[in-house]
This record gives sequence, structure tokens and C-alpha cells, in this order.
Amino acid sequence: MITFSHDRIAEQTNAPARTGRALPRERPLNIHRQTKQAMNTIQSNQLLEQLNWRYATKQFDPNRKINARDWATLEEALLLTPSSGGLQPWRFIVVTDPAVRAKLLPVSYGQPQITDASHLVVFAAKDNINEADVDAHVRHAAKVQGVPVENLSRLRDMLVGGIVKSMDEPARNAWARNQAYIALGNLLTSAALIGIDACPMEGFDRAQYDEILGLKARGLSSAVIATLGYRLPADKYATAPKVRFPREQVFVNV
Ligand SMILES: Cc1cc2nc3c(=O)[nH]c(=O)nc-3n(C[C@H](O)[C@H](O)[C@H](O)COP(=O)(O)O)c2cc1C
Repeated sequence: MITFSHDRIAEQTNAPARTGRALPRERPLNIHRQTKQAMNTIQSNQLLEQLNWRYATKQFDPNRKINARDWATLEEALLLTPSSGGLQPWRFIVVTDPAVRAKLLPVSYGQPQITDASHLVVFAAKDNINEADVDAHVRHAAKVQGVPVENLSRLRDMLVGGIVKSMDEPARNAWARNQAYIALGNLLTSAALIGIDACPMEGFDRAQYDEILGLKARGLSSAVIATLGYRLPADKYATAPKVRFPREQVFVNV
């Protein structure tokens, strides 16, 4: 039986188990360049090592902050998140104000990550995605691609037909929340690759978050949150074995 234990991963990849190192960063930030082929790829064992190193951090060091460069990298990673139709139906609310974080603590089941982590991101999904949102996206795409907006009329029709008109409002809101979770996954992996700890969190009261952060007035609803920073050495979850179903149970080959 194959399990995703650290030793097993180390054995399979010759990677040292859980060293907790950040990958060496030789590359300068190079965020908007489009490449025709993948460059500067990392080794498979480095990827697995970092994915094993990451865990849902329970205890953050309240004295360690993510530096501006690393945070900028993570923001770029969030911006680069793919979404269905490219519609990006989200806003990422970055909460660093300690007073706001203190207000959010009791509506997050008192989970200490809320106030101890360096950064807290609320993934907010856009409410009631509609034709105006599609138009805004298509206009922007035309500008970025340097083409007249009329050239993208088929894209517009596809998005209006496939997303706006094919679903009622609750379904569209659920769709937007699903998209926000893609950004969450992207952030978690990106953070792990640069040696930053994170905890994805659903243990919070969405309505209260919406209220405290004034999200409804912006046409947004909180979907999920993530706290990020640096683990305390005392956090015993860091070394707990990964609990994952066996590969043969999870993968279905057709
Ligand atoms: C969407 C989502 C919501 C979660 N909510 C919480 C949470 O509110 N508090 C918490 O401590 N962990 C939370 N977790 C962490 C999971 O319990 C954890 O990811 C899972 O047990 C696997 O462990 P690992 O991430 O350490 O590998 C959440 C994870 C996900 C993906």
C-alpha cells in the first residue's frame, strides 16, 4: 500500500524528509513575461518535498512577518490563478490591521491563526455575476490582447450563455465560490514552494465576516480564508504523518 508518508516520499524521490527549507530562489521576479516553453522548472523531488513540508499550520509565530518581496510574490501568484472563462469572479481581501483581526477572531471559533499569522487573506466571491461582469472582462481582455472588442464577441456570447444565463443566482454564486477555491489552492502551493506556512480555513462565520469587512456593499461574499506566516517550532502538527487515502483508492484509471 502506498501512503503519502514523509519517509515514503523521501524513499521514492531520494528527497530528505521534511527539511522545511525554502527552495533556492535564483530567479528574479518575472511575472508578466509570457514564455512559449516552461523554463527554470524545479525537480520533482523538490516539489514533493515542499508539498510534504506544508501542513495546515495551527500555531504561527506572532513575531515573524512575511517580508514585502515574498508577499508581493504571493500576490502575483494569486493574480495568476486561472478561472473558468478567465472571469476572475473574486477579490482577495488582505487583512493586516490587528484591530480588524481581533474582531474576526471570535467569529472564527477563536482559532489563534487569525491573530497570530502574519497575513490573513479572505477569498471573496463576486455576488450575482452578470452580463456587465462579462462585458468588463471582455473589454479588458481586448485591451490586453490589443484587439477590437468586437473580435471577442464569440467569447462574450459563450460566457453569457454558459455562465450567466445557464445558472440561476444561487448557482452562479456557488460557481464563483468554487473559483475562489482555485485561488486558495494556488496560494497554498505557491506559499509552500517559497517556504511560507499557511492554513486554509473554513472554520469561520461567513455572514459575520461579510458584515465586519463590509463585503456586501462591494457585491462580495466571503468564501474561504487562509492565514500565512511562519510556524512555531512547538506546533506538533508540523511533524504529524500526512493522512491521505492510498493511491489505489484515490486514482481511477479508465
Ligand atoms: C477548505 C479547507 C478548510 C479548512 N479549514 C480549517 C480550519 O478552519 N482550521 C484549521 O485549523 N484547519 C483547517 N483546514 C485544514 C485541514 O484540516 C487540513 O488541510 C487537512 O487535515 C490535511 O492536513 P494538512 O493540510 O496538514 O496536510 C482546512 C483545510 C481546507 C482545505
